[in-house]
Amino acid sequence: MRVLSGIQPSGKLHIGNYFGATRQHLALQEEGNECFYFIANYHALTSTTDRAELEESTLHVAMVYLALGMDPERTVFFCQSDVPQVTELCWILNCICPVSMMEKGTSYKDKVAKGLPPSMGLLDYPVLQAADILIYDSNLVPVGADQRQHIEMTRDLAGRFNRTFGADVLTLPEPYIVPEVAVVPGTDGQKMSKSYENAIEIMASPKQTAARCSQIVTDSTPLEAPKSPEQCNVYALLKLFASPEEAANVASRYRAGGYGYGHAKKRLAELINERFAAARQRYADIEKRPDYVRDVLRDGGRRARAVAAATMDRVRSVCGIVTNP
Ligand code: TRP
Repeated sequence: MRVLSGIQPSGKLHIGNYFGATRQHLALQEEGNECFYFIANYHALTSTTDRAELEESTLHVAMVYLALGMDPERTVFFCQSDVPQVTELCWILNCICPVSMMEKGTSYKDKVAKGLPPSMGLLDYPVLQAADILIYDSNLVPVGADQRQHIEMTRDLAGRFNRTFGADVLTLPEPYIVPEVAVVPGTDGQKMSKSYENAIEIMASPKQTAARCSQIVTDSTPLEAPKSPEQCNVYALLKLFASPEEAANVASRYRAGGYGYGHAKKRLAELINERFAAARQRYADIEKRPDYVRDVLRDGGRRARAVAAATMDRVRSVCGIVTNP
């Protein structure tokens, strides 16, 4: 199975990113698939024009993935912009993509509603994503639930391309979406997201993590009173980190009363800090070796370009695009 996924570099990765995507990326690598993971910096340019932020976020994502166990020997790990062929395929797909398909994009409409400038790039975002997926003949695309429509558009575009040019050139991918972790609540109870400023970062210090957990919004049920775990943001997060036994135990303490939200927040911070302790140590080590990170990305880029170049030869040929190398 060839597995492919992209990670947008926008700020620090948080536990919503971890449960929604990163954990699945790493698991698919461990299952022995041929994985292609890349940092989607051209996509990020649709929502930021801050040069320093984009550069920093790009290297941050690379370092977090390496620290969490992404193995650049087994996995082709690279920067989207190191494979210029992908923007070339994006153009060709643009030429067979109806404008109306993009105008129906729910992610596009959400982003515009949130105040992002409705640029051509933002409208075209799904076509670039389709190019990302199709250029590597990907079979399986692990993504968060919010990306389902983009994978459907990718399949639609691949089918259109093959029919239009009468050749079986592009492979239709399948989405891989883990349902139970589709939504991770942030400190305010909304979906955890950088733009809502409700995120708990993966690579924060134990102290910062505890401070962040103490800010999680709860209702004002007093300490002694029974509480409903199902309605509590702290419990929803704790369940992601605790063993099933511990989660069940905490749930019965909630229902019994005498167990406060403060207790649960403290335990949640401990669990997060335990889960990421080793990765945080590795992150600190990798931070001191920027050349290593660059070497990994350079090597990944080289391997990715080899696959992309072969696909583009097939694509150009069936469209009648003459090149004169
Ligand atoms: N749009 C994806 C997200 O926001 C990131 C992404 C870009 C992607 N290109 C991709 C994911 C290709 C999967 C495959 O999460």
